[in-house]
Amino acid sequence: MCGIVGACRADNGVRQILLRGLTTLEYRGYDSAGLAFVGDKNVQRLAVAGRVAKLRQITKITDGSTGIGHTRWATHGAPDEHNAHPIAVGQVALAHNGIIENHAELRRELTDAGRVFHTDTDSEVAAHLLDMALADGDDFLTAMRRTAAKLHGAYALVAVAAGNNSIAFARDGSPLMAGTDNKNGFFVASDAQALNGIAHRALYVEDRHCGLISTAGITLVTTDGETAAQNWQPLPSGSETVLLGEHRHFMEKEIFEQPDAIAAALQHHLPKHQLSLRHFGNGATSLFKRTRQVVIIACGTSYHAALIATYWLRNFGIPCRAAIASEYRYCPDKLAAGVLAVGVSQSGETADTLSAMRTAKSAGATTVALVNVPHSAMAREADLLMLACAGTEIGVAATKSFTAQLTQLLILTLALTKARNVLAPAQEEDTLMQLRQLPYLMRRALLIEDDIRRWARVFAGADSALFIGRHTHYPLALEGALKLKEISYIHAEGCAAGELKHGTLALVDKRVPIVGLAPDNELLPKITSNLAEVAARDGRLFVLAGEKFDMPATDTLRLQDGGNFLSPLIYAVPLQLLAYHTALQKGTDIDKPRNLAKSVTVE
Ligand code: G6P
Repeated sequence: MCGIVGACRADNGVRQILLRGLTTLEYRGYDSAGLAFVGDKNVQRLAVAGRVAKLRQITKITDGSTGIGHTRWATHGAPDEHNAHPIAVGQVALAHNGIIENHAELRRELTDAGRVFHTDTDSEVAAHLLDMALADGDDFLTAMRRTAAKLHGAYALVAVAAGNNSIAFARDGSPLMAGTDNKNGFFVASDAQALNGIAHRALYVEDRHCGLISTAGITLVTTDGETAAQNWQPLPSGSETVLLGEHRHFMEKEIFEQPDAIAAALQHHLPKHQLSLRHFGNGATSLFKRTRQVVIIACGTSYHAALIATYWLRNFGIPCRAAIASEYRYCPDKLAAGVLAVGVSQSGETADTLSAMRTAKSAGATTVALVNVPHSAMAREADLLMLACAGTEIGVAATKSFTAQLTQLLILTLALTKARNVLAPAQEEDTLMQLRQLPYLMRRALLIEDDIRRWARVFAGADSALFIGRHTHYPLALEGALKLKEISYIHAEGCAAGELKHGTLALVDKRVPIVGLAPDNELLPKITSNLAEVAARDGRLFVLAGEKFDMPATDTLRLQDGGNFLSPLIYAVPLQLLAYHTALQKGTDIDKPRNLAKSVTVE
């Protein structure tokens, strides 16, 4: 979603830093981009609808020692050049991430006061408020504080003003950080990646804080004007530069990285392949012992990982549920003692999940963040942190982060069970043995790519597709459908096989390809019957199955899944490949599908 980067340097222009930062943030998803530089008498704004590469072209001869840049994912107003940020009003230019909820009311007041609006965005009100405060004689920081105090909703704001070589910023609800190169360069960004290799130390701005950076340093205050403590941390340098290598798309690369990513995650969380509760950190053992109930909160693909984990937890007798974060935050549980709220998120910044975690925490739950981005907001706020360890994921459609989350959720399940003394040693050993096989089994699953390519030719010609499964393969059916629609734009539905005859069966005819998930487990006879019902109605079946599935004349690809627990992780691989190859045939923008964003920082 929207990305922010800003830079002040004494000795050089900042254009390259801004463009590089925006390029790094491209993967988050956006549809327009812009830069603004400070001049003596004005601010110079340049913006485009479309990609940062286009912005690079039109800014070739423009530079300055103080500037801000933005990639915008449209919420209010079309994704065109005039709505792109930074928004220039009077003597200021301002970029905003988030949503200003009282923008309509503020716009009315400002219009009554004679202000003329030039964009359809919610953000323009902040630019007017800032410009008015400066015109009233406020210094830049006070003007930003007064502006922030009038806004309701979520925001990370950065702004420049004519003749002022500094950047004012404010945050409430949307991620923002400052950085320094330890010399005379100071920076701001919505994501540490934008400052990778540029800043050596970082300061994560807290909610309801404002500040100012210049080449002389940084000032940080609360929105009430109190001086705020500055908690600088080293910024791990060179955090990997992510390259495509031999792959055509990041999604393809990330699908194929899964065996190695899982091996690395297992090494991190199960050193010596043993389950040790101490590994979870101080107090984890007693926390897990006290846990009476688990609620797992997430969005999108992470929610599907959460749903699968509920089957595992219940299997070990641990009461649990998975909740869609955007629903949970407005309808939380009345929590009793001993509730563990696990927020699952690749980015660790998803606004709904972050907010739902805060809701659970204020209701008394202990929070665990299972995230892939180490310094993300969720990682910083949770009581306990579990890293997915999948490595940077660029493709908007989550793949390796999903299987990495599942691996960690399985380890968490075992840890909770062990702490309650209900994990039999044989069961622990058996599950750990399954986990150790995981990288090998995933490599094998990747080998069916050629057959999946054949299936994809059929799916690419369809208007609609169905995915059906039972037990842990029901959430996986949801995930298979989500992957397909995200990147190929084909309508797809995931369905619990037992629910088919309660409605979805009406959609079945020979034009709708149907993926059936039929692993070798105790429910195989049931899913086989459900698939037979589909075949009897001319449904065109494509079945992913273990050795035992037997339905003559059905297009079946066999998978070795290593046992009940790991099965959904293995079956995820061909579903990801199916979405990828279908999208490849359709020629869509696979890594940046239309209308979607990698990191969803608005409600
Ligand atoms: C966006 C992405 C999805 C992702 C979801 C949740 O919608 O496009 O791929 O599953 O956000 O993101 P999170 O970072 O919280 O896992």
